[in-house]
Amino acid sequence: MTEKIKRIAIATGGGDAPGLNAVIHGAVYAARGLGWEIFGIRDGYEGLLDPDRYAGAGVVELRRSLVREISHLGGTILGTTNRGNPFRRVVTRPDGTKVEIDCSDALVNQFRQAGFDALISVGGDGSLTIAHQLQQKGLRVVGVPKTIDNDLESTAMTFGFNSAVSFATECIDRLHTTALSHQRVMVVEVMGRYVGWIALHAGLAGRADAILIPEIPYSIEKVAAHLKRKHADGKPYSIVVVAEGAKPVGGDVMVKSREVGRVERLGGIGELVAAQLQELTGKETRCVVLGHLLRGGSPTALDRNLGVTFGAGAVYALSRGLEDVMVALKPPKLVFVPISEAIAKLKLVPADAEGVLVARILDISFGDQ
Ligand code: F6P
Repeated sequence: MTEKIKRIAIATGGGDAPGLNAVIHGAVYAARGLGWEIFGIRDGYEGLLDPDRYAGAGVVELRRSLVREISHLGGTILGTTNRGNPFRRVVTRPDGTKVEIDCSDALVNQFRQAGFDALISVGGDGSLTIAHQLQQKGLRVVGVPKTIDNDLESTAMTFGFNSAVSFATECIDRLHTTALSHQRVMVVEVMGRYVGWIALHAGLAGRADAILIPEIPYSIEKVAAHLKRKHADGKPYSIVVVAEGAKPVGGDVMVKSREVGRVERLGGIGELVAAQLQELTGKETRCVVLGHLLRGGSPTALDRNLGVTFGAGAVYALSRGLEDVMVALKPPKLVFVPISEAIAKLKLVPADAEGVLVARILDISFGDQ
């Protein structure tokens, strides 16, 4: 089966995340290294479903020269969409109403006509669900876990998460000084959909006074009492990090909008919490919504290297005959080692270093070749 692969496609779907271009970079270098052709599908699967809308019939041939300088850039050079489910494509009827239709057969046909032997789908839960369904329709698919939300099982981390957390932490750091100057409560709403990973990690790193996450419904009275105790103890201001999916005990998430063919958009909980805390603590309170700032901008060093490794890993999986799998990161948990062993390994030995793998994929020399 492996030897049949000569030409593959890569698609980026759903909300963008820092590190997407690094994945493309890694996949292209690895595929070209095997002598395969690799093409990018524009805007999720739109390029194949509606090729007339695009130059190059909706796909772009990815050569090393095209991706050499992209891994540090945010966004995706291929474009993406979170309205692009081929199984539930939204079309507008002549009367203006919108309906969902299943275009997956057309997509599979287009994929085959383009001569692709396999697909690398870079996406979160929605895109990977589609990828799995496409595999069931006969395509050979490998997934790469993307999302700032970090809400995928079986991988220690998705790429994009670290960049989002780093930026959120920097924002929280900045809010400390203005909050202290005005002796205010600052509420910071962060993305994350139905999970609290970004809020938890940024809130811990940013020394928040309270962190509200979907996994632990909150009592606003208890949060206010906690802040008031800290105010009485001599800390005159507070930082409260709220995940967009946080909800009160017995309550529900705040939904901003619902549209045909799209998952619901969350948001607004930060303003509500801020208003309630102002009332209950008597402190002037402001809300900052970080929103899409968490998705934009350059990936952190970790996400660049993780992205490149994931991209190359997907190609490696295909080359080994794997399909319907997702590349996942599985580092060991905390363990305890003798100090003597730790200090013996103080020097970086290139042959052992993780970076060597990334360097090889990217054709970076250490001066010994
Ligand atoms: O899944 C990533 C994410 O950024 C969520 O954290 C957020 O709820 C959602 O996407 C926002 O999506 P949109 O691009 O539709 O605003």
